Amino acid sequence: MNRAELFDVRDYVAFITGAASGLGLAYAEVMAANGARVTLADSDAPALEKVLTRLRAAGMSVEGEVLDVADSAALRTAIDKTADGNGRLDAVFANVGISSGPGFEVAESGRIEALDPDMLQRVIDINLKASLYTIKFAAPHMKKRRSGSIVVTTSIAGIKAESVVGYPYIATKAAMTNVVRQAAVELAPHNIRVNAIAPGPFYTNIRGGVMFNDPDIVKRFEAMVPMGRCGQTDEIKGLALLLASPAGSYITGTVIPIDGGTTAR
Ligand SMILES: NC(=O)c1ccc[n+]([C@@H]2O[C@H](COP(=O)([O-])OP(=O)(O)OC[C@H]3O[C@@H](n4cnc5c(N)ncnc54)[C@H](O)[C@@H]3O)[C@@H](O)[C@H]2O)c1
Repeated sequence: MNRAELFDVRDYVAFITGAASGLGLAYAEVMAANGARVTLADSDAPALEKVLTRLRAAGMSVEGEVLDVADSAALRTAIDKTADGNGRLDAVFANVGISSGPGFEVAESGRIEALDPDMLQRVIDINLKASLYTIKFAAPHMKKRRSGSIVVTTSIAGIKAESVVGYPYIATKAAMTNVVRQAAVELAPHNIRVNAIAPGPFYTNIRGGVMFNDPDIVKRFEAMVPMGRCGQTDEIKGLALLLASPAGSYITGTVIPIDGGTTAR
């Protein structure tokens, strides 16, 4: 296979949650730029509209779904619509995730004694339940064609202690780290692959943009990352395309850090 064949996702149908910003937008861009038909799902209607307008102007085939992933009925409807409307579902990115605020290294509110039940519940609903449901709703469509790739955005905070972020975030990312392994084993006989991308710090709008606009937090990240810098969203595109395309056909059950060397320490 040559380079074009290895990464050929032309006519693939992809569904991506949290696709109006940050890493989800990067996944959408790389899939659509390479010829996939992409549904971008997000709760931020104005941001989504802007992104769709820009991508369509660049000739990309994109649709939008405005939804809160915590609403599992709406999530199921959007995934069903994408798969049934296009007659296939090749790649699903369970990407939405929210911060639970700063960790103990940067704020009192990040200490274990300060664990807030409402925050814990909200982060479980978004980062854990919605990711599980995304896999649940995608699997039956992929089984029909005995083919598919599911990619969950976890975090290096699900692999190692990460004192800049809070406990609910750590807990839900660690949970999804093992969910992808279990789902990969269950779905492998159906030729459905399930993997996690575990990013280190990337410049995005997470926590309302506050985190990466705070020079103190950015400095802490730069000190933590062996490469000495945070990632740019374009730098996640190659891994996303690898996992979704024929080039990744034997990769399943893996949790792949993309972190400038952070987890290697
Ligand atoms: N940025 C980082 O440093 C980093 C590091 C590790 C993991 N991650 C993970 O990457 C994923 C993407 O985050 P990001 O950094 O790109 O953040 P981001 O805030 O830039 O993008 C998240 C998108 O999800 C949408 N969203 C939020 N809640 C939603 C909901 N309930 N329903 C539907 N859409 C919703 C937002 O509107 C936004 O467009 C998350 O799972 C996050 O935990 C990010």
